[in-house]
Order: sequence, then C-alpha cells, then structure tokens
Amino acid sequence: MSDWQVVAEESALGEDDMVTGQYAERRVIVYRTPQGLFATDRRCTHQGADLLRGYLDGEVIECPVHQGRFNVRTGAALSAPACEPLRTYEVRLNGGKIELRPR
Ligand code: FES
Repeated sequence: MSDWQVVAEESALGEDDMVTGQYAERRVIVYRTPQGLFATDRRCTHQGADLLRGYLDGEVIECPVHQGRFNVRTGAALSAPACEPLRTYEVRLNGGKIELRPR
C-alpha cells in the first residue's frame, strides 16, 4: 500500500475549485466538488492536455483541448475522444493539509 503524501494546503482550495500538487513524480489535481474532495492525475489521457485549464462541473472535468470528459471520482472517461481513464487517488484532510495516496 502506498503512503499518504501532502500535496497542498486546504486553504488553497475554494468552493468548486481545483488545486495542483505532486505525488511522487506525478502531477495531480485535487477537486472540491459538492460531492466531496477527489483527485486525479493532471494530464489528460488522450493527448496530455493540462486539465487544470479544463472546466469542472460537479464530478466531471472537461478537457480544454478536445473536450473529452472524465468523472473525477472514478477517473472514468465519459466522452470521446478520451477513452482511457484518469488515475485517481484517495484524498484526506490532515491538519489543514490535503493528503493523497493512489487507489
Ligand atoms: S487532450 Fe484531452 S481530450 Fe484530447
């Protein structure tokens, strides 16, 4: 089982917002949604676009380049051209810090 790692301060994350961090060598995004906190890799699995520039709507992130959509809770690709899922992480808060570990 992988270790929990601090990736960001909770104070950096507003409502319906995203914050970036790093888990080992992987760039990640933490999402605050009405359904809770979720985290995925930052690069789109289609052609590597930066999902931080995407549009977050509830549990769905839309890629800014070709509009592929992913569920940030499960990582599932929801619409073409995205077809490979995003890697997801467990998220917990610990003393004002956001910690992740891979699922
Ligand atoms: S790079 Fe994200 S859908 Fe193409």
